[in-house]
Amino acid sequence: MEPPRESEPVVTAGAIDIRLSNVGKKFGDQTVVEPLNLDIRQGEFFSLLGPSGCGKTTTLRMIAGLEAPTEGEITIRGKSVIGVPVERRPTNMVFQKLALFPHLSVFDNIAFGLKLKRTSKHEIRNRVSVILETVKLEGYGQRAISQLSGGQQQRVAIARALVNDPAVLLLDEPLGALDLQLQLHMQQELVRIQRASGTTFVYVTHNQQEGLAMSDRVAVMNAGRFEQVDTPLALFHRPASEFVARFMGQTNVMSGEVTAKNGNETHVSAQGLSFVLIGQETLAVGDKVLLSIRPERLNLTTQQDAKLSLPLLRTLFQGTTVLYTFGLPGGDELNVSALAPSDALPEAGQRVGLRWENDAAILLNRSPAETSSK
Ligand SMILES: Nc1ncnc2c1ncn2[C@@H]1O[C@H](COP(=O)(O)OP(=O)(O)OP(=O)(O)O)[C@@H](O)[C@H]1O
Ligand SMILES: [Mg+2]
Repeated sequence: MEPPRESEPVVTAGAIDIRLSNVGKKFGDQTVVEPLNLDIRQGEFFSLLGPSGCGKTTTLRMIAGLEAPTEGEITIRGKSVIGVPVERRPTNMVFQKLALFPHLSVFDNIAFGLKLKRTSKHEIRNRVSVILETVKLEGYGQRAISQLSGGQQQRVAIARALVNDPAVLLLDEPLGALDLQLQLHMQQELVRIQRASGTTFVYVTHNQQEGLAMSDRVAVMNAGRFEQVDTPLALFHRPASEFVARFMGQTNVMSGEVTAKNGNETHVSAQGLSFVLIGQETLAVGDKVLLSIRPERLNLTTQQDAKLSLPLLRTLFQGTTVLYTFGLPGGDELNVSALAPSDALPEAGQRVGLRWENDAAILLNRSPAETSSK
């Protein structure tokens, strides 16, 4: 049976800004975007998240009008935009390469599009000054682009797109070229600007941290399809597939088996670890299951308190936390994340006790055999 998210638009409440109905794209005979269905709400910060080559940019370019879909319908604010050229769509795009005019001032860069549209000088001044405030660059109007930091240039590019007051702002990995510190800062800035302007943002990224940190909802893309469209918390805690679980960070994916049923409890066991799933009525003893166990749901403990003790293969110090990798009897590895101790890390080779709550496992799907055809 087809899962419902493949065939029905994903929508809950609020006015719809962008609707994709069976929108697909082929380049020659290569399908890069499978027919997609999606509703993006007015004022939403929506992200397309997925690995390189999965079709994010192509999807965004179809919304912008830079690429024509091979099939399907795109509506923005209820009107079809198929055949409508880029400049007549209520959208604006910010690219990874900013394409600012280096020889023009901040003011002239932002005013450029308004001047083309023959907006009056008075109105240009007003609108640029309001938008400079939104991106927190008041007083920078007369600066040359070359006298700005990377993050400030980024904000000029966003201001230039926002000053036209688009219904929708499309952003394609706009923070990709910045260093990590500045990326984290600009993520907060972008959310602030989005909230302040009320503009619908469609944001493309391959960085799961970025997608989770900024978005109201995220579509996780894989090979031209949506794997799951959901809130960041739901993607993290209730991934619909192994792909999503793995893409949301270093999780342990393990095959297991149902060992017992007890009321609404389903007991499962996977390579010596046992868990309890709640409310999986259709599972029966002996059924095969695929489980995701996040590293931070497993804890190190003393041998007396341990449910299991395993040989430590290696440790990876990550600052606040340490990633401990253990060897399972079957040869697989098990990752455990815990707050870093202030003294020495345990030595590789020694056995360490592990414990976990019964509900630490998430059911990914019923039968690993069903999904092994990838
Ligand atoms: N103009 C084109 N002609 C032919 N193939 C293309 C064209 N544009 C994109 N593709 C192919 O379509 C697929 C999806 O590309 P797209 O740029 O949408 O990926 P992406 O998800 O944005 O990846 P990245 O994270 O690397 O930017 C890729 O396999 C790419 O090679
Ligand atoms: Mg891209």
